[in-house]
Amino acid sequence: MNFSARITGTGSAFPVKRVTNDEIAQKLAKLGVETSDEWIRERTGIDERRYSNLENPEEHNSSLGVAAAKKALEMAGKTPGDIDQIIYATCSPDTLIPSTACWLQHKIGAPQAWAMDINAACSGFVYGVATAEQFVRSGHTKTALVIGAEVLHPFVNWQDRASCILFGDGAGAAVVERVASDSSRRILSSHLLSDGNLWELLYIPAGGSSMEVTPGRFSKNLHKMRMYGKDIFKVAVRTLAEFAIRALESNNMTLDELDWFVPHQANRRIIEAVAKRLDIPIEKVLINVDRYGNTSAATIPTVLDEAVRAGMIQEGQIVLLDCFGAGLTYGAILMRW
Ligand code: ACO
Repeated sequence: MNFSARITGTGSAFPVKRVTNDEIAQKLAKLGVETSDEWIRERTGIDERRYSNLENPEEHNSSLGVAAAKKALEMAGKTPGDIDQIIYATCSPDTLIPSTACWLQHKIGAPQAWAMDINAACSGFVYGVATAEQFVRSGHTKTALVIGAEVLHPFVNWQDRASCILFGDGAGAAVVERVASDSSRRILSSHLLSDGNLWELLYIPAGGSSMEVTPGRFSKNLHKMRMYGKDIFKVAVRTLAEFAIRALESNNMTLDELDWFVPHQANRRIIEAVAKRLDIPIEKVLINVDRYGNTSAATIPTVLDEAVRAGMIQEGQIVLLDCFGAGLTYGAILMRW
């Protein structure tokens, strides 16, 4: 058996509530932490982000995933009954047990599917599509549903102004389907790597099995995110550029042949620095960090979906997904759309 895989449908969904930089600044001011709309815009390129209403089950992580998945299935001309495999990339699961993939299956149907979560933080969607691709190419799976979704705002530390301003909630999805191995429209290659030695650059100390959340740890915010942003920034610019080149070179392609560059949306300055380093015109770079902030595993599928639905990405074009995330994790996927 020898097959290829292709993304045949995309979808995205966001919570209703928009949170502007001014609103964040007002919230932090009450805690004695200073920031401003001007600083956030200049240093990150973020204007606003969305936050789920945690009291509303329709805005839980898995529900946003369902909304995105339904749109992706519709675009692909599939129903939940067609799905063989559900891969849910998230680091902000509905619950530790069961997986958010199983919550999604419960809500959407899909009785023929097996479901699992992947945690590669912001690289999750790329890891998920690369995993689905392997199952599809081997003949194991015909139709996979990959979701990248987060409800991250409950995990930010409001005392840390450098990180709490960055993150937002949202979900993106893709249907990954089996195609003939010689199909020109397919995933051309995927490239994954992680460096666990850099775990400390972004982590949540408590809440896992190694450290219970006790009242004392709760009061020290040990159940919230810790981030060394400056260090991540440097590694991100270097590795995003390296993985872009790695993906193109392994297909004997040059940067000129790239139609769309789809980087993880963490900070507009990171995206611009990578585009400059690679000499990619900014018009070829998909960006939505201004409107949604860093939605972690959801950034790449949501910005991809926007461009597909706007008719920007055309059949036969070369598209490069390029990511980094906590772990640290890195990856790229090159495809002919
Ligand atoms: N408002 C006002 N001032 C601020 C704020 C804020 N929100 N945040 C930091 N500052 C201050 C700092 O305290 C510092 O002040 P000082 O000079 O008096 O010490 C000054 O601004 C500069 O701080 P830097 O950390 O140098 O600011 P930088 O330009 O690097 O921007 C940022 C910080 C936005 C965090 C940036 O480094 C970044 O985006 N890094 C990448 C982070 C990232 O991508 N994280 C996600 C990883 S992916 C995942 O898996 C989730």
